[in-house]
Amino acid sequence: MNVLVIGNGAREHAICWKLNESPSVGRIYTAPGNAGTSCISQNVLIDSDDIDSLLDFAVCKSIDLTVVGPEIPLANGIVDRFENAGLAIFGPSKAAARIETSKVFAKDLMVRYGIPTSSSETFSDYDSAAEYVSTQTMPLVIKAEGLAAGKGVVIAHTNEEALRTLLTIMKEKKLGSAGNRVLVEEYLTGHELSVFAFSDGYRISNLFAAQDYKRAFDGDLGPNTGGMGSYSPPTGTLWNQEIQDVVRTSVMEPVINALRTEGYPYKGVLYAGLMVNGSSVNVIEFNCRFGDPESQVVLPRLKTDLLEIMLAVSDSDISKLSINWDDQYKVAVVLASGGYPEEYNTGFEIDGLDGLDKDILAFHAGTILNEKKGERIPRVLTYGGRVLTIVGSGATMKIARDKAYDNISRVDFDGAFYRTDIANFE
Ligand code: AMP
Ligand code: GLY
Repeated sequence: MNVLVIGNGAREHAICWKLNESPSVGRIYTAPGNAGTSCISQNVLIDSDDIDSLLDFAVCKSIDLTVVGPEIPLANGIVDRFENAGLAIFGPSKAAARIETSKVFAKDLMVRYGIPTSSSETFSDYDSAAEYVSTQTMPLVIKAEGLAAGKGVVIAHTNEEALRTLLTIMKEKKLGSAGNRVLVEEYLTGHELSVFAFSDGYRISNLFAAQDYKRAFDGDLGPNTGGMGSYSPPTGTLWNQEIQDVVRTSVMEPVINALRTEGYPYKGVLYAGLMVNGSSVNVIEFNCRFGDPESQVVLPRLKTDLLEIMLAVSDSDISKLSINWDDQYKVAVVLASGGYPEEYNTGFEIDGLDGLDKDILAFHAGTILNEKKGERIPRVLTYGGRVLTIVGSGATMKIARDKAYDNISRVDFDGAFYRTDIANFE
């Protein structure tokens, strides 16, 4: 079967790598991909947001399954377009993807179906929002409704900060139409957990989970990023049987049932960002796709053929599947460009990739091949903020972590940095 993977991050490299293990997979194309995906698939120079060209390509190359990595094409209705053209695709429809693309839609659904989440008020004009925050105790969480590439959530510790945030989003329109409506939410405390399930619109698979480190620097300091590291499976009280049962019965099953009842059956992988505090679980957000860097630690643990799962999901019937996971620990550390998530430079040569241990996975994100005339082997250059995810495995979290760190220290480029405390519980 020919497969098209859409996206260019380490998440998409991990998806490609896992699909490549499937005996039923013939050719894999990645649009647009990166230096890593070019080693195991054919990169295609089509932007992941260019749905018209992706559709033409899929028809022309007789693609049997298209897999959508990032949220933007899902938000723009790529699944509806492909399905209308009779093509199999993995991901939710535009209407179902609103569980991520509209925080107001998601919050409203959760409230109506009794799914545990922080209390919240929605505003579309600055004056009412400002009046409301002035009556609340801090901290408060202020969220733009739409997709904002990680910049749409501010935790305000003072009334002034809350008002300044509302002004920036609602009057100055710094986030464009993503900020037309704003949610002002109760601040939750606890540990964040990313939980995933495959769904065919009716059923959900067993749950799988990871923990993501969103802040740029050690000790959870610095600005929010796309994610600087992750590990799976989470341990101890964060992911015991009791928590798993609560997440399944009070979050994942109800939201899949709610979406179907409302007329938007959800097919794809559903990602719940949760706050766990003792035995209490609250939803922070839903995403309509795999996480990054969570995919880099969960997909290597998957023992079942990913192609079979994705085909069954796209065919609306996962009832015959049994999805199994390896219980080895995986720890992922992201190597980023100096300055990320703010301004950074690219085009630096990456050294040391050929000196990694055999059991280490190196998933590429912002990388590009530089094929120079006269040079036999192309060089790998940096091309983005998050550059690589290095994944170590082991029978204990410590073994996995030590391997990841031992190997990431062998890779370097100008300005490279990484967090040194991923999965460190000591
Ligand atoms: P989101 O884009 O909704 O995932 O929010 C980004 C980050 O903001 C989350 O990963 C949390 O760290 C934090 N956050 C969002 N909502 C809340 C909340 N209600 N209470 C505490 N932290 C939150
Ligand atoms: N790791 C956070 C995300 O994928 O949204």
